[in-house]
Amino acid sequence: MDDSPQTLIDEAAALLDAATDANSLANAKARFLGKDGLLTARLKALGSLSPEARSVQGKALNQIKQAIEAKLALRQKALEQAELDARLSQESIDVTLPGRGAGRGGLHPVTLTIERVEAIFRSIGFDVADGPEIEQDFFNFTALNTPDNHPARSMHDTFYIEGDDDTGRPLLLRTHTSPMQIRYARMHSPPIKVIAPGKTYRVDSDATHSPMFHQVEGMWIDEDVSFADLKNVYTEFLRRFFERDDIDVRFRPSYFPFTEPSAEIDMRFPDGPLAGRWLEVSGSGQVHPNVVRNIGLDPERYIGFAFGSGIERLAMLRYGVGDLRLFYDNDLRFLEQFKD
Ligand code: DAH
Repeated sequence: MDDSPQTLIDEAAALLDAATDANSLANAKARFLGKDGLLTARLKALGSLSPEARSVQGKALNQIKQAIEAKLALRQKALEQAELDARLSQESIDVTLPGRGAGRGGLHPVTLTIERVEAIFRSIGFDVADGPEIEQDFFNFTALNTPDNHPARSMHDTFYIEGDDDTGRPLLLRTHTSPMQIRYARMHSPPIKVIAPGKTYRVDSDATHSPMFHQVEGMWIDEDVSFADLKNVYTEFLRRFFERDDIDVRFRPSYFPFTEPSAEIDMRFPDGPLAGRWLEVSGSGQVHPNVVRNIGLDPERYIGFAFGSGIERLAMLRYGVGDLRLFYDNDLRFLEQFKD
């Protein structure tokens, strides 16, 4: 190997230029500046020279070292830049490509139905209230005249929550919106006129039942609210909800612990695919005197009605949906049909 300083610099430059990545660059650096590198060996050899020769040689070697280091730094920068360029070109976006389009969302049919129910009841003077989905056994059952041994409390259709409320009684996912009768009426004074839509839960799952579903509770209590008012209000609601005046409505005797007398409300379309069939849409009744008492009112003075209707049921009838589970499958082909 030629010993001249320029040769060493040229040789180093060639090797550094040939390096294509961090690894080969490190190898090239080691060949000259490393512990056993060519330049390092010469620097070590300085020790055996005379002081004059050492000074001259030392200066020359230092210049070589600086030249190689400068070249190394340049090459390092160039490699980093090349790597960055490669990455950027890989990740680059072609702004000339046609867009995919941002889909406009829409409200869920259950939400649309709740909003529709709220608008109708608001227009006939009802307040709209909201309550907790994790409910105390007292509001869900006891205050609604449902004693401890009532079948509605069964583990089979109720989701109990671990832990108790502050009275040591169980907590559960509310099985109906009826607890809102008590909660709302305790915070307001008559006339009490309210609906409370929301989520409810039961251990139940098939084409017409889902473990989570929605109900709307309604209650009107005053000094002279009668069963005739219930008939009027609910019939008016159904006619406006379905946008037709020729719906038949019937009140079929039934039983609920919190109403006496109680009735199922059935309706019938005069035409269409469901023509002539009685369809059950709601439970209802005159609020039981024990419930009026639990609200904190005198049942000798105050009387009224309540009802509890299934929101999904109303939505299925309005939109002609045959399987309730479609509401919860999140299939856009289904949901998109409800966009307004
Ligand atoms: N809470 C009842 C249920 O979920 C429905 C119901 C029936 C509500 C009669 C009422 C009522 O307010 O008066 O099955």
